[in-house]
Amino acid sequence: MTATAQGSKKLPPGPVQPCDLNTTPESFDIIAGLIAEYGDICRLTSESRKSDAYLVNHPDYLKQILVKNHQNYTKGVGFDRVKMLLGNGIIVSDGPFWRRQRRMIQPAFSRKVIAELSEQIKRCNLELLDSWEAKADGNEPINITSEASELSLQIVLRSLFSEDLDRIIAEQGSNPFSILTDDMARDIQLVIKFRALSKIILEVIERRRREQPGRIDFLAMFMDSRDRETEAAMTDRELLDEIMTMIIAGHETSAITLNWVWYFLAKYPDVERKLHAEVDNADYEQIPDFDDLDQLPYVKQVVEEALRYYPPVWLYTRRAIEADQLGDYFVPAGTDIFITPYFLHRHPRYWSQPEKFDPEHFAEENIREQHKQAYIPFSAGPRRCIGDFFATVEMQMHFGLMARKFRVKLLDEQPLELEPAVNLRNKQPIYLQLIRR
Ligand code: HEM
Repeated sequence: MTATAQGSKKLPPGPVQPCDLNTTPESFDIIAGLIAEYGDICRLTSESRKSDAYLVNHPDYLKQILVKNHQNYTKGVGFDRVKMLLGNGIIVSDGPFWRRQRRMIQPAFSRKVIAELSEQIKRCNLELLDSWEAKADGNEPINITSEASELSLQIVLRSLFSEDLDRIIAEQGSNPFSILTDDMARDIQLVIKFRALSKIILEVIERRRREQPGRIDFLAMFMDSRDRETEAAMTDRELLDEIMTMIIAGHETSAITLNWVWYFLAKYPDVERKLHAEVDNADYEQIPDFDDLDQLPYVKQVVEEALRYYPPVWLYTRRAIEADQLGDYFVPAGTDIFITPYFLHRHPRYWSQPEKFDPEHFAEENIREQHKQAYIPFSAGPRRCIGDFFATVEMQMHFGLMARKFRVKLLDEQPLELEPAVNLRNKQPIYLQLIRR
């Protein structure tokens, strides 16, 4: 038992009936009810799990779990399913193997590398611009949900494979990774189809070993990376799992965020106007370079607010290895922890008018005093999202280009329905009319 865990043995309050939570709409409603009734922490017994689970909705407790005592927590409930999809990539691995992989991958996400990769992000956006201009001129509505999904997939694939993506598409006759945008179901069928793409990825790796084409992309960085202690490179299996992980972790999360930001711009004209003023006054030709992004703080604020309001990763889990202490409450070894960014981001003690979409929540003067762990769209601590900065660059470049060219109008005034699945999505696609500015 850790020193802190020798404190109180008090357990949090909670319902008498057993309660299992999952990434489903039913759980979303149950969690809302539990938080309304029990507040910052509650204890759930389970019929299917061996241990109790805690639903934790207090930034101090999250700081203990994710930052201060992070080594006491592994990934928890739900990750077995993800393992089928991603093998032992860094989103699911734990312990020394995770640490080694994270260390080997981290350099690929440095500012310097992302500055280089931003050329790929630019390219994908400029390709999209032509098609959006044609749609605006033809008065053709766009399905922003699927457009954002395709753009985000292109960006993550180009950042991984650069020119080899063209070769893959030429050899396969079309983009084999498009199964992720064509099929919105995230079921076992998709797992099987996605794993079948392993062969294509292994061929790219093998060809690079043979031809050494000198690419600048994530795959090249991963292949060049060496274990600090043993000097070993990643095996093909490890490379494959990490590439699969980047595609899955980087695609839908960013796509949904792009989709939400456009939705909010269409819904709130004042926000759109302020964002237009910023992009119009910024000093770049057509699309911002990496070094121009400092000129777009309001774009960043709008993205941050979208990630507060509808965090794509709305529910995730940990499991306590040894006993721990959260404030007054004892956490027995083996306890499952449920963390819900969606509900935390609406905690009335930490957010003024939390139900209001307002990018001013992230204005310098408002965020300065904010509890760091009251906002966790990318999680926190050593297991924080490795792609957070990449995603921010992706968003700023996209809106830095597109918002100069278009304003948008929502075509359906129906209230939006949420679909809290693995990611928090909109149930029906969102349609927009692009209007040239
Ligand atoms: C707006 C976009 C994104 C959001 C909201 C997001 C959110 C998250 C969250 C909440 C986690 C922690 C999950 C957990 O601990 O269970 C995470 C981890 C991760 N994300 Fe992201 N992510 C985004 C974009 C990206 C991108 C673009 C990439 C890669 C290109 C990426 C790669 C990863 C990886 C590899 C991990 C695992 C890190 C580790 O455990 O060491 N993410 N992300």
